[in-house]
Amino acid sequence: MHTKIIKIKSSRQLTLQIKKLAKTIQSGGLVVFPTETVYGIGADALNGKAIKKIFKAKGRPSDNPLIVHIADKKDLGLLVRSIPKKAELLIKKFWPGPLTIILKKSKFVPLSVTAGLDSVAIRMPSNKIALALIRNSKTPIAAPSANLSGKPSPTCAEHVITDLAGKVDVIIDGGKTSIGLESTVIDLTSKVPTILRPGKITLAQLRKVIGKVNLHKDNGQISKIKSPGMKYRHYAPNAKLFVIKGTKEKIKNEILSMLKELKKQKLRVGVISFSYANYRSDSVQYFGKNYALAAKSLYSTLRDFDKKKIDIILCEGLEKKELALALMDRLERAAGKNIIEVI
Ligand code: TXA
Ligand code: MG
Repeated sequence: MHTKIIKIKSSRQLTLQIKKLAKTIQSGGLVVFPTETVYGIGADALNGKAIKKIFKAKGRPSDNPLIVHIADKKDLGLLVRSIPKKAELLIKKFWPGPLTIILKKSKFVPLSVTAGLDSVAIRMPSNKIALALIRNSKTPIAAPSANLSGKPSPTCAEHVITDLAGKVDVIIDGGKTSIGLESTVIDLTSKVPTILRPGKITLAQLRKVIGKVNLHKDNGQISKIKSPGMKYRHYAPNAKLFVIKGTKEKIKNEILSMLKELKKQKLRVGVISFSYANYRSDSVQYFGKNYALAAKSLYSTLRDFDKKKIDIILCEGLEKKELALALMDRLERAAGKNIIEVI
């Protein structure tokens, strides 16, 4: 398949292109579009055949459900059985924005979107291109992140082109995404609302609006039922990633000694650091305490390490709170079992 790449840099270009892009969605095609979090690979959420194409293009397991994107609050009614008070409060505060809510699905949502679940994940993005695409398509758009399954999510068009050129009809190049990590996902079908995936909107922010909120701890069995996507290895670069946890001083000493050892083995090593800036290695990405910048750049950093043929990535662990909770969630998933606690 020939993939068209369409650059949109101004509202004038958006107006010129949007009708054609919407037609591609309406005729069951795949359009990759930017959101404020990461790029999504979109198709008409009410068209089962189009949905199947998403799974095929990404190589995504069919038991991993998709997020449905809407552009107007009133479109929620079509997709869910009812809108509880807590959902209303969250929507009022955080939409449009990087929050996905899970509610009981209506009969209009195909089971291919929800991977057979009785619930559906919905979000209203704030990115202008995303909103215009959904509005002009006149249908909700199902869109997972536009990466090959298991790879880091794309935060610019170049990442998407690497993963999906030839597999989708159109890629809209809308520049770098502003947040860089996927939306916070909150399940409102459980007794106590539960965060299934941490993101920019934090636990504390959610609790302020709706009171008690649990944080879902990933422990295999529950997660398989609760959030099917969580059981797969995610966000993984080709390099082997290690997250090193402990006190600041201990983390630093451990990384310094690992660097010595790995250099002896002639391996190419990348470092991601938040506290110590002076590691000497093949490639060092130092973010300091600027976690917003780290979120924005994390996936491109991982992809850049791959380009530089880095064999091993060493990453300083952070205390899991606020945005650092989301950062550590992605890093630990990318690391899989390679988590080192220095005691
Ligand atoms: O920021 C985002 O959310 C991006 C942009 C494109 O909107 N999308 C995104 O989609 O990250 P995806 O498919 O990569 O991640 C969706 C997550 C998966 O972990 C999936 O398992 C979970 O949401 N999910 C979707 N529907 C669900 C449901 N009904 N119940 C539980 N988890 C669900
Ligand atoms: Mg994804």
